[in-house]
Amino acid sequence: MKAVRTHGRGGPEQLFFEDAPVPVVRPGDVLVRVRATGITPAELTWDETYQNADGTPRIPGIPGHEPSGVVEETAPDVTDFRAGDEIYGLADFPRDGAAAEFAAVRAANFALKPRSIPHVQAAALPLSALTAWQALFEHAHLAVGQAVLIHGGAGGVGTLAVQLARWRGAHVLATASARDTALVHSLGAEEVIDYHATRFEDILRDIDVVLDTIGGETRERSWRVLRKGGVLVTLVSPIPPDVAEQHGVRGVFFIVSGNRRQLDQITGLVDTGKLKPVLSRVIPLARAREAFEQGAAGHAPGKIVLQVAG
Ligand SMILES: NC(=O)c1ccc[n+]([C@@H]2O[C@H](COP(=O)([O-])OP(=O)(O)OC[C@H]3O[C@@H](n4cnc5c(N)ncnc54)[C@H](OP(=O)(O)O)[C@@H]3O)[C@@H](O)[C@H]2O)c1
Repeated sequence: MKAVRTHGRGGPEQLFFEDAPVPVVRPGDVLVRVRATGITPAELTWDETYQNADGTPRIPGIPGHEPSGVVEETAPDVTDFRAGDEIYGLADFPRDGAAAEFAAVRAANFALKPRSIPHVQAAALPLSALTAWQALFEHAHLAVGQAVLIHGGAGGVGTLAVQLARWRGAHVLATASARDTALVHSLGAEEVIDYHATRFEDILRDIDVVLDTIGGETRERSWRVLRKGGVLVTLVSPIPPDVAEQHGVRGVFFIVSGNRRQLDQITGLVDTGKLKPVLSRVIPLARAREAFEQGAAGHAPGKIVLQVAG
């Protein structure tokens, strides 16, 4: 098969479009004929991109862990999918991903894809929508009427988090560049703060939930906008001990996990028009290097997706 593989730790310059063996299906797996996959530019910096779960090296390795495609084959113990099913989901990070014509993935982390959108759009959802869902609903317990501040509201995660928070009935505030303000409003944010022009902590108080997709000083400046007992959920790095307690709030860092039940709910929201993927760009598999370069350099709102087959 054709695949994009990393030849060593580094950046997009280490990615090569080349021939690779079709992956072997393990117990619990399905083999997916990939039609499209989302990418996370930061994945080229993760250890899991270059090593297996037991720590042994995996070079060359295949990035792109958010495929949408068609079931080609199932392991003998998999009974919930059959050949021809159209599915999408989150592939395990410490295994080869889906920037390839085929990917072997754990069936339990996949669901039937939304019928109302094509594969290239479905591939923008698994990692970002599950991350937004788990951050807002599992970790922050976001409730109707609460105020939530979403940093990076125009990003891959942010565009979905804004919509999910609005669907839950929260008051949604977001930070974004001025160029993306109109889009983030259209997704459901009542207030969008241009982070280049305004320091959000100068104008916000008593926020119930902050979803931080940025980290660094954005996270540090966020503690003071929360009400006592509020919660900050961050995606970028662990929170040092005691920091949240000192501000009288809860702080959570987590890594997204695959979850079919949540994907089924996301599918339902998409098919009833309540959630829509936002695509930054669709780039052919052979030009994956360009996709990762763009992701790292800053990109138009939403998610970058690799198109593997038409
Ligand atoms: N823990 C997990 O499980 C998990 C899961 C998914 C993602 N992540 C991480 O979460 C982060 C976001 O991922 P993503 O896919 O959403 O990235 P992304 O698509 O690159 O989005 C980032 C967004 O943030 C905006 N931005 C940059 N600096 C900002 C600032 N200071 N204030 C407000 N907005 C700012 C960018 O807009 P401009 O281009 O206009 O600056 C862009 O729209 C990444 O670090 C990723 O690795 C973690």
